[in-house]
Parts: sequence; structure tokens; C-alpha cells
Amino acid sequence: MIYLKTEEDLEKMRAAATLVSRTLGEVAKWVTPGVTTRQLDNVAREFILDNGGRPACLGYGGFPGTLCIEINETIVHGFPSGRTLVEGDIIGVDTVVELDGFNGDMCYTFPVGEIAPEVRALCETTKESLAIGIEAAHEGRRIGDISNAIQTFCEGRGYTVVREMCGHGIGKKMHEDPEVPNYGRRGTGPILRRGMTIAIEPMINLGSRNIVIEPDGWQCRTRDRKPSAHYEHTIAIHPEGPEVLTTFEYVREALGDRFI
Ligand code: MF3
Ligand code: CO
Repeated sequence: MIYLKTEEDLEKMRAAATLVSRTLGEVAKWVTPGVTTRQLDNVAREFILDNGGRPACLGYGGFPGTLCIEINETIVHGFPSGRTLVEGDIIGVDTVVELDGFNGDMCYTFPVGEIAPEVRALCETTKESLAIGIEAAHEGRRIGDISNAIQTFCEGRGYTVVREMCGHGIGKKMHEDPEVPNYGRRGTGPILRRGMTIAIEPMINLGSRNIVIEPDGWQCRTRDRKPSAHYEHTIAIHPEGPEVLTTFEYVREALGDRFI
């Protein structure tokens, strides 16, 4: 069941999306060698609570953190831990904030200090593919048009697309219909309608597309342990075109010339 949002709902979605965007801006200030991912998680949780939000990942199906932490080969749903960031790592930080009954979902992959050129290129392409997916999200087109745009772009540059994990509808619940895969055929899948709100989140690998889910049932990594990148925005479909509800501007402000 796809829930279409009213203008009143969208106002709340915008507020939740702004708070999750500001949260990643706070996290960005702490991403540096020597910091543990648990410290990042504490910064995010306190910031969300101080601003009247609810850290929606925490306790979701038993998930143990406010942030999903995705270091190097981790694709999604990594746990915050005592792991210290090391120069050359990339760290995807994915989180969801609920505010006033609606959710905003966002992910940014940060470089830690200097990173290898091929890893930077992976991040740049993944972030660009998110923008390309968003551009395809016009009323009257289909989910498969978004999926195909992302897949074609990333595979065209020699990367692989994770298939087991998808974007999704979002609203009062973090995960709503429809699924938004990062691969697929144009002209297939649900039609995009005004009032739909979806999270688009390409997960793109440097090596093969194969994944492993750890025995904890959550933490997901590449089978070949090569790096994977992940960026995500929450968007709304309007007759005039897509509205990106989340923003990387707070991350950009915090990172300055380290912004990818
Ligand atoms: N963007 C992630 C997703 O849609 C957020 C997951 S939060 C978690 O899967 F609690 F499920 F980990
Ligand atoms: Co998501």
C-alpha cells in the first residue's frame, strides 16, 4: 500500500528531513582519525533528542544504534562499536529521524583523511548516481526508470550494484511501499504519483556485487571485502518535479574542502 501525502504531511516530512540533515552535519564535524563509531552514534542520538526528534533506527527490529555505520566493505546496517576511524577509511553514516510522526532518511559516505583515488571515484559516482536517480523521479514515470538510471550510470563506469538492498517509500513509517531498487528496467514498476515520498539509496561496489549478511542478521558487507559506497536522500514527487527533502548542505558546511 502506497500512502500519498497531503501538503500538511509534507510539511512534517520536510521538518523531519531537515533534522536528519542537520544530524549528519553534526556527525560530519567528528569524522576524523581516532574517533570511534560509538562516539559518532552518541553525538547523533543526543543531537536528535535535543531537537525533539526520535532516533528511529535505535531499537528498530532490535537494531542497536542510532546510526548505521558502514566502514569500507560494509554496505549497510553496520553497528556502532569501539572501532576507531583510520586515515584512508570511508564511512557511510545512514540514519532515520522521526519528528512529529513522520520520518526522514539519509546517508552520506565520508572520507577519513586522504583516501585512495579509486575509492574517491567510487564515492563520487555513487553520489552522482543518486542525483541521476532523483532526476528520473518525475510524476507519471515509473520506479523502474529511477532504478535503471542508477544502474546504467554505475555499471557504465565499471561498478556493480547491490541487489538485495533497496530504497523504499517513507512517511509515518521508515519503510513503506514501494520498494526502490537500484537496478531494473525502464517502464516497469509502480507509477510515480504526486504526494509519494521515497528514499533513494544507491549502494555501489568497487568489486563484485555479491554480499554477505553476518550471523547477527544485520551487518551486510561485500563478499570480496572491497569497498562499497552509499548515499541517500528522501524525496517527494510533485507535478513540477522531484523535491529533495533532505540536504547535504550541513555536511558540506562541516567538511569544507573535504566534501565529496
Ligand atoms: N536507510 C536505512 C534503510 O532504509 C536505514 C536503516 S535503519 C535500521 O534500511 F534501523 F533499519 F537499521
Ligand atoms: Co533508507
